[in-house]
Amino acid sequence: MERLIIKGGRPLSGTVRVGGMKNAALPMMAATILAPGVHILNNIPDLRDITTMSHLLRIFGAKIYRHGHALTLDTSTCDFPEAPYELVSTMRASFFVLGPLLARFGRAKVALPGGCAIGPRPVDLHLKGLRALGAEMDMEGGYVVAEARKLRGASVNFEVPSVGATENVLMAAVLAEGTTVVENAAKEPEISALAEFLRSMGAKISGDGTDRIEVEGVTSLSPAEVEVPPDRIETATFLIAAAATGGEVTVEGCLPEHITSVIGKLREAGAELQVRDGTIRVQGPPRPGPTDVVATPYPGYPTDLQPLHTALMTIAEGTSLISDRVFPERFTHVPELRRMGADISVEDRVAVVRGVRALDGAPVMAPDIRAGAALVVAGLAAKGETVISRVYHIDRGYERIEEKLRSLGAEVRRES
Ligand code: EPZ
Repeated sequence: MERLIIKGGRPLSGTVRVGGMKNAALPMMAATILAPGVHILNNIPDLRDITTMSHLLRIFGAKIYRHGHALTLDTSTCDFPEAPYELVSTMRASFFVLGPLLARFGRAKVALPGGCAIGPRPVDLHLKGLRALGAEMDMEGGYVVAEARKLRGASVNFEVPSVGATENVLMAAVLAEGTTVVENAAKEPEISALAEFLRSMGAKISGDGTDRIEVEGVTSLSPAEVEVPPDRIETATFLIAAAATGGEVTVEGCLPEHITSVIGKLREAGAELQVRDGTIRVQGPPRPGPTDVVATPYPGYPTDLQPLHTALMTIAEGTSLISDRVFPERFTHVPELRRMGADISVEDRVAVVRGVRALDGAPVMAPDIRAGAALVVAGLAAKGETVISRVYHIDRGYERIEEKLRSLGAEVRRES
């Protein structure tokens, strides 16, 4: 078990470059199943979740090689469409293989993902979408057993815009017979990144980035090479960390248009931001002003950054109200932040954050990726030493976080 030890209270300063978008890279890796052959994905971050997805694809028979940040995936040898519980239970994104396996093999057996630290995360919409395309699905011993001799284009209307369900349906629809229309589709940039990859494989998709996506099925796809776009959540993590420490940081290699809502909230909190093509420079305020946030689907404030915004608001000059419409119970970071002296109460699924002058370093535990990142932000801003255990959660979504933070002047080390 590794721990991160942070000596807080130093303003971050310098320039940092962000890596590739984890939540686009994962479905893109699953999508390689659709076209037997050798695919190359560039700008793949070196993360625990990427390793887990590689393990899973190897179980299906794929050959995968990493050269720095490039991943070569040969899916011509895939012949075993079964995703075991041991892997799916460690990463929900494993469920993204269901659509591609069905489309390529006409059958699939994928373990149902279990519970999750950020609240109930059903997969009913994934199943509803695939059923609409003609798949028959049964539950057997904790597994979804799916079969479809021929997938057919259909109209799919989601009750709520789900990123994962939209991706699973897109990946099945590209090889279905006829046209599929997805209504109330998720609009997140990760969807457009996946759609772009599928198009480069020969798929016919339009409307991604809007809530109505149309897919005209084709009979086969070809392997492709693409560049994974930069990660918007990592970008914003560095901006929020800089703001929390009153620092001055430039984030390079990012796409500012993906985090407009975050830039707006940081400005509201008193940070100064300069946005240029692919670069954002932030100057943190001496002390943040209180700023309410309601996390909503894209282009709203991202749920994945809600815990980090909460950490920032713990030291604001006033009270902020924070809620999350995507995962209304996503507050596992709150008890940990309280251990550091934060004054937060959660009433009717709203976190009432009464800013304190300073946080105190303390031993804390990362409950999941983003709650863990929130503790890193808090630890950087706090007085004294914060020891974060269960760092493996943070490693699922952040590559070499301690090295990148050290390059910004933070005092952070990793210990076994
Ligand atoms: C993706 O999860 C991300 N994960 C999450 O990031 C992110 O928090 C989430 O989207 C929301 O932006 C990946 O892309 C791998 P959803 P996903 O389906 O697809 C409900 C991280 O830290 N819903 O868009 O699982 C669901 O309960 C992770 O990197 C159903 O009701 O999220 C939620 O309220 C954590 N039925 C809402 O939809 C379903 O079948 C949105 O969830 C599916 C979802």
